[in-house]
Amino acid sequence: MNTRGSAIPGIEAYLAEFVRQLPFPTALRSAIEYALLGGGKRLRPQLAWDSCIAAGGNGEMSLPAGAAVELVHAFSLVHDDLPAMDDDDLRRGKPTLHIHAGEAMAILAGDAMLSLGFHVLAERAPEHIGICLCRELAGGTEGMIAGQVYDTLCGDGGGMPDGLSDRQRLELIHRNKTGALIRASCRMGAACAGALDESMEMRAISAYADAVGLMFQVVDDLLDVTQPAERIGKRANKDAQAGKLTYPGVLGVEGTRKAVQELREKAMNAIEGLGERGTGLRELAEKMARRES
Ligand code: IPE
Ligand code: IPE
Ligand code: MG
Ligand code: MG
Ligand code: MG
Repeated sequence: MNTRGSAIPGIEAYLAEFVRQLPFPTALRSAIEYALLGGGKRLRPQLAWDSCIAAGGNGEMSLPAGAAVELVHAFSLVHDDLPAMDDDDLRRGKPTLHIHAGEAMAILAGDAMLSLGFHVLAERAPEHIGICLCRELAGGTEGMIAGQVYDTLCGDGGGMPDGLSDRQRLELIHRNKTGALIRASCRMGAACAGALDESMEMRAISAYADAVGLMFQVVDDLLDVTQPAERIGKRANKDAQAGKLTYPGVLGVEGTRKAVQELREKAMNAIEGLGERGTGLRELAEKMARRES
């Protein structure tokens, strides 16, 4: 995977054009552009693109869905970095938005990007699938927020169910805070190709998404302890300092690598039945398992 910039043709221009024409105060538009454009791996639009192909469509059909999920993802990162959350000063190799433009603007630009995710669907997605895409995006966003509550307030009234082992708690956090939007990316991509909920394609792609969604955050935890800030474009060694529950913290580095391989395998098995059309998703799972940034 290209670490700075996407393999999908058109997503950068699509996002840039959508934001450029918004009737927003200049300072708000600039803040959104700062957080959204350039620097992200665009993994979620890529998942939507490859899922669309896996379900029998072409990649271009997935662009409104990919843009929508990327907008919500960018919102989640801006708020994740705020002082009240992870209190980070580096993101995508640049100062975080609240350092660059102040905390009030970071909160508001995040709010705007959440709304814009639904706006782009309402305006640009085919009408007959608009409601379905909104429902998927809402589910992914709400899962992400629930996961952020578990992750941030876990030991302090976060509402985590009692009686879970550390490993079970971790899985619950990661499947929500990161897995839910990844699941939405894949299912929205498949829906753009016309896949119905009960179809073989949608079931296979959802099972794939569940595995790579968890795997993605497990790898993120691993990179926090194995890679320097220059490579990951954000502060390293932050999770343990912040007292976060992480895979390397619970399973150790080697145990975490093994968990990554198991999830990669699970993802591959899930899409076996898709044959040739699943090639993009297979390659992407491989890259996501091996990524170093
Ligand atoms: C970082 O996501 C936050 C997580 C959910 C792990 P990415 O690693 O996809 O961040 P960008 O979009 O490439 O910056
Ligand atoms: C963030 O998880 C998940 C989100 C919902 C944004 P992290 O807090 O581990 O993400 P990074 O490491 O800051 O990118
Ligand atoms: Mg966080
Ligand atoms: Mg963070
Ligand atoms: Mg992290």
